[in-house]
Amino acid sequence: MSKTYKIAVIPGDGTGPEVIGEGCKVLDAAAKRFGFKLETVSYDLGGTRYLRTGETLTDATLDELRGFDAIYLGAIGHTDIKPGILEKGVLLKLRFELDQYINLRPVKLYPGVECPLKGKGPKEIDYCVIRENSGGLYTGIGGLSRQGTRDEVAVQQMMYTYDQVARCLRYAFDYARKYGRKARGIGEHNTLALVGKSNVLTYMYELWNRVFAEIGAEYPDVKREYYHVDATCLYMVACPEMFDVVVTENMFGDIITDLAAITQGGLGVAAGGNINPQGVSMFEPIGGTAPMWTGKNAINPIAAIGAGAMMLTALGEEAAGLAIEAAIAQTTPAMKSQMANQMGFTTTQLGDRIASLVAG
Ligand code: IPM
Ligand code: MN
Repeated sequence: MSKTYKIAVIPGDGTGPEVIGEGCKVLDAAAKRFGFKLETVSYDLGGTRYLRTGETLTDATLDELRGFDAIYLGAIGHTDIKPGILEKGVLLKLRFELDQYINLRPVKLYPGVECPLKGKGPKEIDYCVIRENSGGLYTGIGGLSRQGTRDEVAVQQMMYTYDQVARCLRYAFDYARKYGRKARGIGEHNTLALVGKSNVLTYMYELWNRVFAEIGAEYPDVKREYYHVDATCLYMVACPEMFDVVVTENMFGDIITDLAAITQGGLGVAAGGNINPQGVSMFEPIGGTAPMWTGKNAINPIAAIGAGAMMLTALGEEAAGLAIEAAIAQTTPAMKSQMANQMGFTTTQLGDRIASLVAG
């Protein structure tokens, strides 16, 4: 009997529905070819819904989402809504409540994709950032006091528990063992680089570095490195080929993965997964709602399609995930650009093309 996966689809706002539509097209083609079934249920969540009903993500919806094998998300955001409401009310609530403590962000330059780094190509830009996704500054502890005076204080706390650090690093070591350069047959070592700021955040990195060494001792097949986050930004531009698997805390990971995204062609290409290895994971293009391009059939669906590939891989359908990635790699050389409206293809044309390549 063929396997059936239950997928909650959250198309969201702006161009979210368009890119997710193409993603679903490609996922269906993969399901047919590789002999599994996808049972999808669509959820209306995001800014449009919030403006209509005043609701972000209710506990009832959250409980329903717990029953799925995975979540496939487009984009959430609305220019008429104050920053923070949808982020905290929907996206971060999903990540925190479903305890998706890993944010997996592959940095892969596909063939033919224009790269802003001089002399760097697909061989040099091929690594992965594992961003801790549950703690740090995102914990949301802090406050304001003496507001409206010159003594006003704003506090936003960076915090991590031992367990949060340990589970993230364990995932990262496992990932490096399985998908590092040596494991993929393209390098001498599987390398895991911890990115931090141990010269200033001395308490935080006393913990992270100690746990890194402690857990790392169980992985003699994974070479350990440490870099400060500011230097990492420099290396990501000057010599991205030095990275294999990178692991870092939440806010640093947020920032360096936007830098990483532009080196792989931008937000039209970059995909990510919010992962709970024991629970329900959620896959999304890293980019936003691109309101300017909504409804124009001009937005790049590659990131959403790539997120779909990651979802299938996480569900255990690795061959299907690889087939989608191969179809993307066969399509990017024909594109004029990865920028919306400059691709030389419409959104639906790209989806059709990749789906037919996946269908074989
Ligand atoms: C991301 C986004 C989110 C984050 C925002 C929208 C809350 O920037 O997924 O990287 O900061 O994590
Ligand atoms: Mn971000």
